[in-house]
Amino acid sequence: MKTKTAALSFIFFMILNLSSCGGLTRDDFKDNTEGSVSEKILSLASLAPSGHNTQPWTVKILSDNKWIIGWDKNRALPAVDPGNRELIISLGAFCEAVKIAAEKHGLSAKITTIAKNNFDDIVAEIVFTPGKTEERNSILLEKRRIVRKGQLSKPLTMQDKDELIQNISSKVYFFDRESEEGMIIEKAVLESNMVQTKREDAVKELADWIRWSDEEIKNKRDGLTPSGMEIGGLANLFVRNFYSREDALTDSFRDSSMKAVREQLSSYGTWIIITAENEAPSNLMTAGADFLKIGIAGVDKKIALHPMTQPIEENEFKLRLKDSLPVKGKIQFVLRSGYVEKYPSPVSVRMDVKKIIRK
Ligand SMILES: Cc1cc2nc3c(=O)[nH]c(=O)nc-3n(C[C@H](O)[C@H](O)[C@H](O)COP(=O)(O)O)c2cc1C
Repeated sequence: MKTKTAALSFIFFMILNLSSCGGLTRDDFKDNTEGSVSEKILSLASLAPSGHNTQPWTVKILSDNKWIIGWDKNRALPAVDPGNRELIISLGAFCEAVKIAAEKHGLSAKITTIAKNNFDDIVAEIVFTPGKTEERNSILLEKRRIVRKGQLSKPLTMQDKDELIQNISSKVYFFDRESEEGMIIEKAVLESNMVQTKREDAVKELADWIRWSDEEIKNKRDGLTPSGMEIGGLANLFVRNFYSREDALTDSFRDSSMKAVREQLSSYGTWIIITAENEAPSNLMTAGADFLKIGIAGVDKKIALHPMTQPIEENEFKLRLKDSLPVKGKIQFVLRSGYVEKYPSPVSVRMDVKKIIRK
């Protein structure tokens, strides 16, 4: 708060808004349920996770049973993801979500990756055929979210580890927090975050994807919102009303981001590492699909998943992890995981499906 007027306005807002402390969340943007089956599938599929919640997927609906999946160049993250690796992973999660959403409508979706390179315009083709109706996974898809706060310091049980990776084709490794490897990962996560919070292009790019005010959230329905970033209570109310893009560039914001990372690293159970043989589009698509499957399998078990991608984005740490961990292939995900007392409701917002569809 910079001025006395701002202080008074804040108190005024507090009194007026205490009942709506969390700001706009997913529930405020329910899609029109009267749309076509394609639109219903798309609406559900868009609940897939994506880096900075950019929702980079585009869909050309060629007919009721054939879609072409591409990506929106304005939704790439060149500063942290110059090779489009994370973008293709997000598309992989999206296509898996299409599969789950199609099952809810009695359709089986066959996904074929077309792209040979991570920058090709057309990434995949989806063909729908009649199949059996299955609703369970779509219910879990609606409940799934990233959970950054409240992880308990208890390693995942062997049984849960096994069950999380049923039906997964990527190679997945578990390292409990207290293990030697766990500590190596923790150190790399902390240090790579320190490096990234000092990298101007990465900080500016992040600032471009934070939606501080309710107005911005309502207009864009993408990016990271205060509730999505798990800024709680009065702090949430404060930033929504007084923060803007410039605040995300300040030293104090960078300090508070590092404080949040330290807090996150003070309590969790197990690191989950997903690898791929190489970073060709088809392998990244599989890694994305598997990331979503693990997230969904964790919902009823009250297992929180939190990707901490900075060690893969900062090359020196990617090499360090590759050299010091007993893993095969290239690391695609570093996921902090742990049990939570209560799995929280999803809050991150999604765009109207009409914005995804391309003519
Ligand atoms: C490839 C990829 C990388 C991600 N990296 C991070 C990360 O480093 N830190 C983080 O807090 N969330 C990360 N996320 C999670 C997204 O921010 C999250 O999926 C998005 O904000 C939507 O929220 P939701 O998954 O809870 O719906 C990542 C997600 C994907 C798909």
